[in-house]
Amino acid sequence: MMNEIKPCLIVFITVAILRMKIFVVGTPIVPCYFIFGDSSVDSGNNNELQTSAKVNYMPYGIDFPKGPTGRFTNGRTTADLIAEGLGFENYIPPFATAKGVEILKGVNYASGSAGILDETGKNQGICISLKKQVANHQTTVSHIVELLGSNKLANEHLNKCLYSFNIGSNDYINNYFMPQFFNSSKLYTPEEYAQLLVNQFSDEIRTIYEQGAQKMYIVGVGPIGCTPNATLYYGTNGSLCVNEMNMAAYLFNKHLRSAVDRLNKEFIDAKFVYIDQMNMMSKLSSSHTAKITKCCEVGDNGLCVPDKSPCKNRNEVLFWDGFHLTEVVNRVTANKTLNSMDLSESYPINILQLAQLPTKNAN
Ligand SMILES: *[C@@H]1O[C@H](CO)[C@@H](O)[C@H](O)[C@H]1NC(C)=O
Ligand SMILES: *[C@@H]1O[C@H](CO)[C@@H](O)[C@H](O)[C@H]1NC(C)=O
Ligand SMILES: *[C@@H]1O[C@H](CO)[C@@H](O)[C@H](O)[C@H]1NC(C)=O
Ligand SMILES: *[C@@H]1O[C@H](CO)[C@@H](O)[C@H](O)[C@H]1NC(C)=O
Repeated sequence: MMNEIKPCLIVFITVAILRMKIFVVGTPIVPCYFIFGDSSVDSGNNNELQTSAKVNYMPYGIDFPKGPTGRFTNGRTTADLIAEGLGFENYIPPFATAKGVEILKGVNYASGSAGILDETGKNQGICISLKKQVANHQTTVSHIVELLGSNKLANEHLNKCLYSFNIGSNDYINNYFMPQFFNSSKLYTPEEYAQLLVNQFSDEIRTIYEQGAQKMYIVGVGPIGCTPNATLYYGTNGSLCVNEMNMAAYLFNKHLRSAVDRLNKEFIDAKFVYIDQMNMMSKLSSSHTAKITKCCEVGDNGLCVPDKSPCKNRNEVLFWDGFHLTEVVNRVTANKTLNSMDLSESYPINILQLAQLPTKNAN
């Protein structure tokens, strides 16, 4: 089944979409948006960390209004585009630099190479694991209590916010499938590992709920076996992608979707949504030929070599570097995340619906 995944799309994604705003900017549908995750949504948290997983240099950000910022793509991330879609005037600031009243509109905690497990990504250097991101959110919550003057007011504010989680890929890419650094593939079968990850993930989500979150969405792992790095490094034995990696991701997603069902039953005053990135990507594969090829020249770690000119047809290429998608693909994913009516993509509701739900009062 997994070898049918062809993250192709492209060609039919035209410049028109690139220019299009998904939603009109005005008063945002939610007053605040908190982002947890990895390099797919990092907006600069790794810039000052000692790690090879940082990209605040050209050609990263070549299509971003402010140039290189630490985003791991040519332009906007899905989190940026969803913030636009929700009506925010500014992108959500990274935790590393967020200050003052701007935290009332949300904070981005995401960190390149980070995963659900603390050790994930440490082969690249320092990163901010999910547990540490959740601890950073606790710091933000205390500042919000100070800013608004009471726990009650802070809680009422936090109840209305949207919270997103894009994490898990690195627990495979920078852990399980890197046996030269990590033992996980010797200790666990893919099934056991997926359960371990999802159990720990659920615990962190419960903590965020306890800190006032009521509207949360959780993005599954994409087709990690189809990245240029994976296909080059592991070989595909004739198929388009590394099936073993996609199978592992599929197991993770299956458990994650069940965890979302459990959380929805457990916390009736909150709503949890599962976004199936794997399905979104495979549906995008139309009749067109894949252009999986990356756009920039990459170094040993799969990231772009500094200051080399990238490809010009960035609207037609799926991958920007060895791992990360181009903005044009992020646009399609962000639009689907907000608007999809297909339960195999956004379950049990989509993110515009989640954002518009009335806030329930637990007290
Ligand atoms: C992996 O396992 C070996 C043998 O059990 C141990 O010596 C080593 O420290 C472990 N490495 C990691 C990164 O846990
Ligand atoms: C990416 O591929 C290169 C080989 O081209 C390999 O050395 C490197 O470890 C890979 N990076 C990751 C994070 O898998
Ligand atoms: C490669 O594919 C062939 C044909 O499908 C199969 O017989 C072989 O076992 C595969 N090899 C590996 C290493 O998966
Ligand atoms: C956005 O998503 C909706 C629902 O999936 C779809 O009908 C629409 O065509 C998409 N728009 C773009 C520009 O992709």
